[in-house]
Amino acid sequence: MAKDFATMEDSNRSSNRSIHEVSDPARRIVLGAGTAASLAPWAALLSGCAGPAAPGGGPKLGFKGVAAGSADAVVVPEGYTATPLLPWGDPVGLAAGLPTFRFDASNSAAEQALQMGMHHDGLHYYPLDGSRRGLLVVNHEYADHGLLYPDGMLSWTAEKVAKSQAAHGVSVTEIEFVQGRWKARRPSPYARRITATTPFALGGPAAAHALMKTAADPEGRLVLGTFANCAAGMTPWGTYLAGEENFQDYFSTADQPTAHERRYGLRRRSWYRWHEHDPRFDTVRHPNEPNRFGWIVEIDPYDPASVPVKRTALGRGAHEGAWVTLTRAGRAVVYSGEDAAFEYIYKFVSRDPMRAAGPGAARANAELLDHGTLYVARFDADGRGRWLPLVHGQGPLTSERGFADPGEVMVKARQASDALGATRMDRPEWLAIDAATLRVYCALTNNSARGQAGAPGVDAANPRAGNTMGHIIRWREAGDFDGESFAWEHFVLAGDPANARPEARGNVRGDLFACPDGLAIDTRGVLWIDTDMGPKAMHRGEFARLGNNAMLACDPASGAIRRFLVGPVNCEIAGAAWTPDGCTMFVDIQHPGEPPGARSDPAEPRRWSNWPDFRPDGRPRSAIVVIRKDDGGPIGT
Ligand code: FEO
Ligand code: CA
Ligand code: CA
Repeated sequence: MAKDFATMEDSNRSSNRSIHEVSDPARRIVLGAGTAASLAPWAALLSGCAGPAAPGGGPKLGFKGVAAGSADAVVVPEGYTATPLLPWGDPVGLAAGLPTFRFDASNSAAEQALQMGMHHDGLHYYPLDGSRRGLLVVNHEYADHGLLYPDGMLSWTAEKVAKSQAAHGVSVTEIEFVQGRWKARRPSPYARRITATTPFALGGPAAAHALMKTAADPEGRLVLGTFANCAAGMTPWGTYLAGEENFQDYFSTADQPTAHERRYGLRRRSWYRWHEHDPRFDTVRHPNEPNRFGWIVEIDPYDPASVPVKRTALGRGAHEGAWVTLTRAGRAVVYSGEDAAFEYIYKFVSRDPMRAAGPGAARANAELLDHGTLYVARFDADGRGRWLPLVHGQGPLTSERGFADPGEVMVKARQASDALGATRMDRPEWLAIDAATLRVYCALTNNSARGQAGAPGVDAANPRAGNTMGHIIRWREAGDFDGESFAWEHFVLAGDPANARPEARGNVRGDLFACPDGLAIDTRGVLWIDTDMGPKAMHRGEFARLGNNAMLACDPASGAIRRFLVGPVNCEIAGAAWTPDGCTMFVDIQHPGEPPGARSDPAEPRRWSNWPDFRPDGRPRSAIVVIRKDDGGPIGT
């Protein structure tokens, strides 16, 4: 069933072309690809904090693991401290005002637009002064309407829709390390809120396409807003990539959705009910509006006046996020997946190499992601795989088959991937790229529908029916990251080996976990794993011994996994980002206290959790936690 990961090799990191090494955005210096070994400024920072390698050749997991637990707290190993920072509702530091959070959730929509959004997810740190001062860019994936207003959805007004839209998107906050603590700098010239109403440009083959034109935007070039922003990637040219994941839940269709709408999961009943006061979310009146969401968006956090761009060459889907590396020739390769049952894993290869540039690297590479080839993955039973190009006119992607031009292939990337025979995966979440080994890891969080009546059955890459536990798959590209074939294997099957149901037993070497979601590889080569078990599932049955959601560290060479952090009640753990010296780690705690029904009861906001404030009149708030080693050393050593 599962391939083992016994075939390991050295992890020689000297040729690592990770984004941290090829770019120093703080200085706006971007060096040409292939020169990583001589990258003095960034490499010096890294070497000052790099921990020793383990005797077996992998990175050392130099901390004492924490036990699975169910406390309403963030628990980290002895010798570490985790401090909440910038919870939902904190002012981001815009010059326009500093509205403080009101614990009864009575802040207005206008105030929310100047505050941290809800439900923090992917994040990255962009240096301004090395590891002492920088920008923290954070996705705010969604809103819990039961917590966002004092009375929840008892009444439903235009003001409430506006507040929900303002609680979504992305925040840019300046932070600094002062007297041993990270704190926000307010006001800051960099501070920015991007919400569901912020203007975005469109780039790539679907820009100005007929499928993108609306009454408000007859040229199909300017979209208002981004939302459902889940995971995030940092580019070597100093920008931020955010996925637009579950955009389908924001639209309301006719009683019978069109075939195109059905393929993207749109339906009559909108979970967020924005359409009741904002007609562009009613697809009967505005049928092309959903086509303008489901993209990877690119933001330049260093330029608060820049117009962010939706990169349509990367295809449309429920993108979890996007992760970038470079080929030896300097071409950008962007990996992404769709976190939806039986959807796909994608790779984009830019036509042009990244431009080496000093100041203005983002501008010099402003069109890099607009030209290139998008591929979708097919995992074959023999352990090999193919990247299938989504190129108009090739194979089934013709006008006769419903794809009029390259733009339509991108808008209908799911249908194009169906036609190409790509492999339907168990909900691809984050990917992590190990440039030293040409390996890419992908978390397949779970898919309980696999093998059930009417659903696709198991296959080599997704081998468990009723996959409640999830797994991590990895592959090695042939030749370089732009290779069209790869060799794949299961890295780990998550789950408790003591489970009665064979399909829920895992092969974890070390601390148990289930439902991998976030993945990140740090500069020492440690693979960090965030989990996202649903509140309905946690603490019972197959999940009984796994505790709250957690973050684990893994040595990819040995497969050893050790629990590093346990989150508060009913949260999920999201993201991991570091300062360049590796001595501060930022992790997002998302939806502490989320009830099993997914939407909080406004009458009982503290029923499940009161983290991080623990006020008698408070409510749980998503927040970043800043993790430091008490001796100031690198995280994980
Ligand atoms: Fe937003 Fe797939 O988690
Ligand atoms: Ca996720
Ligand atoms: Ca998830």
